[in-house]
Amino acid sequence: MEELKIIQTAGFIPEKEVKNADLAQIMSTSDEWIQTRTGIKKRHISLQANTSDLCIKVAQKLLEKSQISAQMLDLIIVATMSPDSTTPATAAIVQGALNAKNAYAFDISAACAGFVYGLKTAANFLKDPKIKYVLLIGGEVLSKLVAWDDRSTAVLFGDGAAGALLAIDQQTESGILGSDLKTFGQFNTSLTAAKTQPLSEFPPKTNEKRYTPFMMDGRAVYNFATEQVPRSLRDACQDAGLSLAEIDLFLLHQANERIIKSIAKRLDLPLAKFPLGLAELGNTSAASIPLLLDDLIQSKKVTRGQTLALCGFGGGLTIGTLIIKF
Ligand code: ACO
Repeated sequence: MEELKIIQTAGFIPEKEVKNADLAQIMSTSDEWIQTRTGIKKRHISLQANTSDLCIKVAQKLLEKSQISAQMLDLIIVATMSPDSTTPATAAIVQGALNAKNAYAFDISAACAGFVYGLKTAANFLKDPKIKYVLLIGGEVLSKLVAWDDRSTAVLFGDGAAGALLAIDQQTESGILGSDLKTFGQFNTSLTAAKTQPLSEFPPKTNEKRYTPFMMDGRAVYNFATEQVPRSLRDACQDAGLSLAEIDLFLLHQANERIIKSIAKRLDLPLAKFPLGLAELGNTSAASIPLLLDDLIQSKKVTRGQTLALCGFGGGLTIGTLIIKF
């Protein structure tokens, strides 16, 4: 077992709500289509506030709930596919805003698997005795990347951030029991956002487009997720020496209710073990697993001592599953 304790969790959702009916006003879609294909009823959109602003709110909540000072943090990691900029890292902006002067900070780019990749990364850093507290946040403002004239993707995503304060606590059983992280780079074109374009000539044309819009091959991602996620959950359980039946809850990336139902069915497990949080939030990419976890902790559906499977999957294409003792 790798030692790792999720000391606290916190989330932040921007105020502006966009219902399916609101989208039907600006594109050719309907509440019925979106709900039956995805399970999504509404999502929240961040106006004015960028990814770092949402992450700063989460960080402040985490510090307050944990009663530790920003100066006690040793490392800040932000998992995001919608950073404020390619440089500086969004995590660096968070570090500066908190005045977390003893922490170094970097981002992880693994799309919807980002939070799980971040937990695994944090566990490795925590093996260094100089590192006591790690702040890990999954934060997204996907609304700034989405092509709002493409109904096949625009209806799926929402904005939000959530995270966890992580440490090692030898007094408890908390830790990573098993893991399975995989990247399928041969499918990198299945989901791209803000893909950069090299110059076509020099001197450069001033009006040349530098970024391509958000693009997803929905069917390819659907097939990938429903095939590879069950495999990854099985592989992670095997790594942990546990059977699927011994997992209390499966916290999957909240991409689409149909994907989650199909995975539960393929594994022959009750849907009740797969909590859903996307009806109100949409797909919030790297934020979706910590938002769900925080919600389940608040409602006491997740309690200490439970065995949880956390599984993220998305652009890359990436998959990450951790079996944790909470
Ligand atoms: N409203 C109405 N009609 C629509 C919409 C919409 N918003 N979007 C597409 N359609 C139409 C299409 O144009 C198509 O019409 P046609 O038959 O006349 O050509 C029809 O609906 C069916 O389109 P499909 O793309 O085949 O629809 P599908 O049933 O596959 O559902 C969806 C699309 C929901 C995107 C599905 O493929 C899916 O869930 N894919 C997984 C995507 C996902 O969850 N990605 C996120 C994971 S990665 C990450 O989180 C970053």
